[in-house]
Amino acid sequence: MTVNFPPDFLWGAATAAYQIEGAALEDGRTPSIWDTFCRTPGKVLGGHTGDTAADHYHRRQEDVRLMAALGLGAYRFSVSWPRVQPTGRGPAARRGLDFYRALVDDLLAHGIRPVVTLYHWDLPQELETAGGWPARETALRFADYAHLVGLALGDRVELWTTLNEPWCSAFLGYASGVHAPGRTDDEAALRAAHHLNLAHGLGAQALRAVLPPAARLSVTLNPAAVRAHTPSPADLDAQRRIDALATRIFTGPMLHGAYPDDLLADTAVLTDWSFVRDGDTGVIKHPLDALGVNYYAPTVVSAATDGRPVPGGEPSPWPGATGVTFHQPPGKRTAMDWAVDPTGLHDLLMRFTHEAPGLPLLVTENGAAYDDKPDADGAVHDPERIAYLHAHLDALLRALADGADVRGYFLWSLLDNFEWAYGYSKRFGMVYVDYATQARVPKSSARWYAQLMRTGQLPP
Ligand code: NOJ
Repeated sequence: MTVNFPPDFLWGAATAAYQIEGAALEDGRTPSIWDTFCRTPGKVLGGHTGDTAADHYHRRQEDVRLMAALGLGAYRFSVSWPRVQPTGRGPAARRGLDFYRALVDDLLAHGIRPVVTLYHWDLPQELETAGGWPARETALRFADYAHLVGLALGDRVELWTTLNEPWCSAFLGYASGVHAPGRTDDEAALRAAHHLNLAHGLGAQALRAVLPPAARLSVTLNPAAVRAHTPSPADLDAQRRIDALATRIFTGPMLHGAYPDDLLADTAVLTDWSFVRDGDTGVIKHPLDALGVNYYAPTVVSAATDGRPVPGGEPSPWPGATGVTFHQPPGKRTAMDWAVDPTGLHDLLMRFTHEAPGLPLLVTENGAAYDDKPDADGAVHDPERIAYLHAHLDALLRALADGADVRGYFLWSLLDNFEWAYGYSKRFGMVYVDYATQARVPKSSARWYAQLMRTGQLPP
């Protein structure tokens, strides 16, 4: 039996500026925290940097032609803040903005809807030097940046996203330090989370002030599909604590206008949260037109000591969650060592269906890394990725059948790219990139996805 997606379902693919663009120092771009982090010995596998990445800055037209050939309905990309506002303050850099104007023009000329993310982790280094996300000032700077990009692209871009995965920016960036800027300070991470929330609210206000009424505003989160290892009260409490730190720290103020009481209590030993000023949570609860959900794998936790203390070693990205351990579910894994478990996607979509009735949902990222290699003929066959995508799209269809208002799906990623602390060692693309030549080779998953986009039918 084949199963149909709705006829107006938005089919897309996603990328992010630092992961694909390269041209790190061209046309006035200044270093972001990732440029600095990549140059810090031991932080990124192999000492890789985004200096060249997939060279998309120079191959924009070729890449848009490729998207059109695949039949993408939408393309989700991010704007590089240090490219369009090099010091993180003040006037726009015209040449930087011109790149995104040209990209949007190319997409529209090919009938592909542009979906703009304003912040996908590349904070201008100057703003980090001035305090970074733990400083309130950064949220105010973000609002100015949102205003400037909104003015430049607002007439042609309909769907906007303020932040991508603020959990990673706050907790991988400032608590565990495995992402830029690599700080390990729990209190700073909680401050960062609040100022990212505030940046979202102020940025949404700034966009609304300059965008046409038809524009739609969203944010993309990576809510944890967190499960208790056993139904014991202690494990269920571990689940609650991680859910607060992973998800409700953002959805609390964004959707409901308040930080959850249990989060405040769990983190009371680290901070009194006095950096939250009167009126902040009202700003953060700006009306949203869609919620972006990124999903890759579930999180399984217990209060026992037999799991790993924290994923990826010390220090922990979970401030205040001492005593929680993490478990690998049995079964298949991707090259990231992440479990393949599509039920988590269904669970998250149903959670937000109940928690935020009437708010349309978008799967803004889903996909998998595998060790793809060209065969003797140069073709790249990736049956495991096809199986992963199939299973997750099947879960999405189940969520639709169960009443979830899911409007679109964006495969991560269009191209192989710079996978943050893993450098170029992990390939998430449906298109293989030969980094020596920058040749693009659509993998078999790209042909599979193209057919799905064309027919709207998931094969059996
Ligand atoms: C989520 C992030 O948004 C993206 O930048 C990253 O490459 C993928 N997850 C895969 O880890």
